[in-house]
Amino acid sequence: MFLKKNIQSKLLFSIISLEYYFVINLTYYHVADDVPEIKPSIAVVIDVLRATTTISWALNNGADSIQVFADLDLLKESASKWDADKRLLLGERGGEKLKGFDLGNSPISVTKDAVHGKRLFMSTTNGTKSLKKVQNADYLFAMGLTNRRAVAEQIITLNKKNVLILGSGWEGSYSLEDSLAAGALASYLKANSKSKVNIVNDELHAALALWNYWEKDILKCLKTATHGKRLTSIGDYEDDFKCCSELDCLDIVPAQFERGVIRASNMVS
Ligand code: MLT
Repeated sequence: MFLKKNIQSKLLFSIISLEYYFVINLTYYHVADDVPEIKPSIAVVIDVLRATTTISWALNNGADSIQVFADLDLLKESASKWDADKRLLLGERGGEKLKGFDLGNSPISVTKDAVHGKRLFMSTTNGTKSLKKVQNADYLFAMGLTNRRAVAEQIITLNKKNVLILGSGWEGSYSLEDSLAAGALASYLKANSKSKVNIVNDELHAALALWNYWEKDILKCLKTATHGKRLTSIGDYEDDFKCCSELDCLDIVPAQFERGVIRASNMVS
């Protein structure tokens, strides 16, 4: 009798543990200020237009690392400690390149010739703020639509229970394109993870619905977005739009290796 009860409770415990093991809770926040003061296990930061797309392309093209800053004076001070031929200053405010910087924030400007082997010191209006906000996560990844599958596969491999997705928005408000990518990530995980994927909050339910609505016309979604219109109003960003809307074209996983420093992940895939 005792033995039977013991076996039953062990069985029950294993089932509960298995359930615990095979669950991914996905939560999405639109902007940095919405994120509660927690230490996420996995955090994924999205800035489709354009910071995380630029980061992904820069690493794909051989940049050594990207160090992100909110404060421009700190950025310049840190950059000054590096060899001039091994560093680049990247930055934008309001979508436009910062005066005195080498490059703005365009994914098509971070060519092999420009970035190979270099550390990029980067500051953008919103994207780098979101990266800073969750820099205490155990694992921090930067994702655009371009590397959605690569980041999703990394999440599946890590098999952690809680994943926080954070958009960048625009100066504290919602952005369509980041929510589109959050929905794209959730959709991939739901379709491909062996774990049960829980959509934890309304923000992510809405993002999934957005993805289902726009997935066949990503480019149009990006141009419809407020920041898309902002970019269109200040210059010819046609190539940037095309680049930022190309789903799953990069196998790169930008991951934080030390606080504020992002490199291409060489974690097991
Ligand atoms: C941002 O951080 O807000 C952006 O990446 C802005 C941009 O350059 O398009």
